[in-house]
Amino acid sequence: MRYVNVASQFQALYGTPKTSLYSGELGRWYSTIMAADTLDAEMISLRCAPDAYIVDLMCGDGRILRWLAGHGHRGVGVDLSASAIERATSLGSDGIEFVVDDAFNWTPRMAASMVILGGLASSMFTEERLLALFQHVGTYMAAGAELWTDYLPEYAGDPGWRGDFVLPVSQNGFVVSSTVRDPVTRSQESSFFFLGTDGADCREYASHRLVIHGRGRVEAMLIEAGFNIASAHDSYQFDPGGFDESLPSWPIRKVRAVR
Ligand SMILES: C[S@@+](CC[C@H](N)C(=O)[O-])C[C@H]1O[C@@H](n2cnc3c(N)ncnc32)[C@H](O)[C@@H]1O
Repeated sequence: MRYVNVASQFQALYGTPKTSLYSGELGRWYSTIMAADTLDAEMISLRCAPDAYIVDLMCGDGRILRWLAGHGHRGVGVDLSASAIERATSLGSDGIEFVVDDAFNWTPRMAASMVILGGLASSMFTEERLLALFQHVGTYMAAGAELWTDYLPEYAGDPGWRGDFVLPVSQNGFVVSSTVRDPVTRSQESSFFFLGTDGADCREYASHRLVIHGRGRVEAMLIEAGFNIASAHDSYQFDPGGFDESLPSWPIRKVRAVR
């Protein structure tokens, strides 16, 4: 029997169309959750010279670049999603700008001294696409500049974890969040259903599927695109050492590469 996660069951029950994860109530909720994870921004900040020009590719609502701007850095964030960029711009601050564009073609006005491809953006693409992206990005990075990225690696004994959570959203509703990890198809799907309970009849559904890359494969692609690997290690969201085994968690590989 085919497994249908609980968020998708809600979607089918209400006939809710799929929306962008960065729009509406779901977007607000997701951004709040993600904004609480500042570990990457803190790490990147330590690697940036005060006058660094940072390019945040596929920046979503700009949580990393906005945190960096709050700590004196400047740069530009790029995302395909107009609603994500609208939110980023409305929350933005001095020294940073946000543009709607395709990171596979876009180039910055000046050479980048730091490029960020965070929030598991490297897990959104197949190896072939990712290599093309790294090759393109390498064309506008200054010599010695760093590229920072993270991805979902396969790991020994990957159990094919799946789980559903019901989470209250302030006073006005709840979100069902479902994640399914499939080591056979090497993918991880996360789906989110928002149901407003304040009488406003608001329902939203968003879902994204990520690629589980072979361990070390993203590093290998970076090398093929002309980078050197400065460091690579496993971390866990909200729990970098993976100490709390009661949390649903899987390794996230954090990679620093130098042009
Ligand atoms: C998983 S989110 C990561 C957001 C952000 N980096 C963070 O850490 O919060 C992925 C984002 O990539 C954007 N995206 C996907 N393909 C893109 C492309 N070709 N060019 C620019 N942005 C893209 C999506 O719109 C989405 O906002």
